[in-house]
Amino acid sequence: MTWLIRPASKLYGTVTVPGDKSISHRALIHAALAAGTSRITGFLLAGVTEAMIGCIGDLGVEVETEPCEGAGSLERPLGFAGLTLLVHGGIVRSPPRMLDCGHSGATIRMLLGALAGRPGVVATLTGSQGLRRRPMRRVIEPLRRMGAEIAEDAPPVTVCGRSLHGIDIMLPVASAQVKAALLLAALHADGPTTIREPGPSRDHSERLLRALGVSVAIHGHAITLDPLDGPLPPFELSVPGDISSAAFLIAAAALVPDSEVTIRTVGVNPTRIGMLDALMAMGAQVEIANRRQVGHEPAADVTVQSSGLHGVAIDGDRVVRMIDEFPVFAVVATQAEGRTIVRDAAELRVKESDRIGALVGELRTLGAQIEERPGGFVIEGPARLRGAVVDSHGDHRLAMSLAVAGLIADGETAVLNAQAHRESFPSFVTLLRALGASVLDTDSHG
Ligand code: S3P
Repeated sequence: MTWLIRPASKLYGTVTVPGDKSISHRALIHAALAAGTSRITGFLLAGVTEAMIGCIGDLGVEVETEPCEGAGSLERPLGFAGLTLLVHGGIVRSPPRMLDCGHSGATIRMLLGALAGRPGVVATLTGSQGLRRRPMRRVIEPLRRMGAEIAEDAPPVTVCGRSLHGIDIMLPVASAQVKAALLLAALHADGPTTIREPGPSRDHSERLLRALGVSVAIHGHAITLDPLDGPLPPFELSVPGDISSAAFLIAAAALVPDSEVTIRTVGVNPTRIGMLDALMAMGAQVEIANRRQVGHEPAADVTVQSSGLHGVAIDGDRVVRMIDEFPVFAVVATQAEGRTIVRDAAELRVKESDRIGALVGELRTLGAQIEERPGGFVIEGPARLRGAVVDSHGDHRLAMSLAVAGLIADGETAVLNAQAHRESFPSFVTLLRALGASVLDTDSHG
């Protein structure tokens, strides 16, 4: 799929974005292990979560979808996903075939953690070519220290479930996927597990486990989980909108002159809103209103108006709080007065693409002044962007970031391999058009 994007004159309106990807993944895998039926509303149905649904189906867990009352009606803000999932959890058996985790790092890492401590279950996990190149030792090595039997260091990887020991471990990188996997393994270990992280990675697992009655103690960046005697209980959960998807619309509204966009009921967990903080530090007009709790998570309505911006420096702990937002943040920085510097972000190189190398190359093609650094990049702004042919590199976040760049570039921008956006935000173009943008795609227009 190719997107053809024209400059936008104004973006205006109120929308909701689909459910949070990280919370949807966690809700699904915990529901799969729970003894009974769990009900998840606002679930994100997209490439990465379909991969996890397929895998847990192969493990013997039945998943049904229930259409949500009122979905698509006028009372619902545009974009309401309206999907409820019923997960009949508790039965986990050896799958009849290899588990295909597609492009989803969360699926393979969390499943490794969940299956490592299930005696009698033997499963081989694999995924797309891109996924097989991503780092897995960061999760496999700590699991082995817990006693897990995992032969390989990279997918396809076979796990033979067995009884695990509690450990005390310092993780070399702040990774919420690794933390989530180890917490899943720790649920049935023979003693408490303490996970220490170098930085504040997203805490959705901790919140969900506590809500399910699991003892999870948090001291700074150290988490201690006491194992359970029995299975997890089934639960009901409502998933807030994904701030990482909202970030594309927020960035577009900040950049396109005369815009005002509100995203309703979006997650504003402090471990996820580094991008909002960065935008405000750049001078963006961002308002966070109607703060409330949705599914044990802070949520709010976020409104953004376009404004003049200036460069900032992002490093240290701020990086992990906006780890998925750097591609679109870089697009914003191209329009900010002065220098924007991103450091301590080498993790970007092992995401769905090398999000430093690929981003720098594509933004340069559009006329941005951006320099690559080993652990980040430096941007001088503002630069006049010119429409050109750019490529998503098969990375959903790069595809959508380049589309946002196209809204402020002169002439027409073509984004190749735009279908990658379906991994996390299938309604992206629908919402962008509803806000006033002109996006053609080769699927609907030949
Ligand atoms: C995620 C954690 C982050 C993030 C990913 C989702 C999660 O990955 O980039 O999109 O759901 O825990 P890492 O844990 O690899 O940093």
